[in-house]
Amino acid sequence: MDVRTGFIALFCLIGLTCAEPVKYVDCGSATGKVATVNISPCPVQPCKLRKGESYSVNVTFSSAVESKTSTALVHGLIAGIPVPFPIPIEDGCKSGIQCPIQKQQKYNYVNALPVKTQYPAIKLVVEWELRDDDQKDLFCIRFPVQIVS
Ligand SMILES: *[C@@H]1O[C@H](CO)[C@@H](O)[C@H](O)[C@H]1NC(C)=O
Repeated sequence: MDVRTGFIALFCLIGLTCAEPVKYVDCGSATGKVATVNISPCPVQPCKLRKGESYSVNVTFSSAVESKTSTALVHGLIAGIPVPFPIPIEDGCKSGIQCPIQKQQKYNYVNALPVKTQYPAIKLVVEWELRDDDQKDLFCIRFPVQIVS
């Protein structure tokens, strides 16, 4: 752990608000471009998601298209196999995005990732897509997480 990571971890441990950019892989953003992905709290990567808690996911992206709608689709990839990861609000237009989405505009997509107590305590990859009117991905990101008890 380097000094910066240590400092951020300490900052978050003492309960201050912390949104740390996480490392992600772009899995085919077609009609948009991702700038940053913030998950909070996530002092150490991969993010440790505690069962029964909820995490905030904030994806900053810009759109290359106009779209009246935006719909989120979240999967957990367990050993490469996609398993649906339900989120409370699938409508991107109710998740910090003012619709209709405009071309060349920057947006912050903000949503909650609740971790159910019945989830297994495993490492997995979360795949988060936001689809436009044509079912194309405004963004598609993947980030590793570890579910802990
Ligand atoms: C989301 O992230 C952006 C860029 O880091 C930031 O400007 C914005 O305030 C964040 N929004 C929320 C609700 O955390």
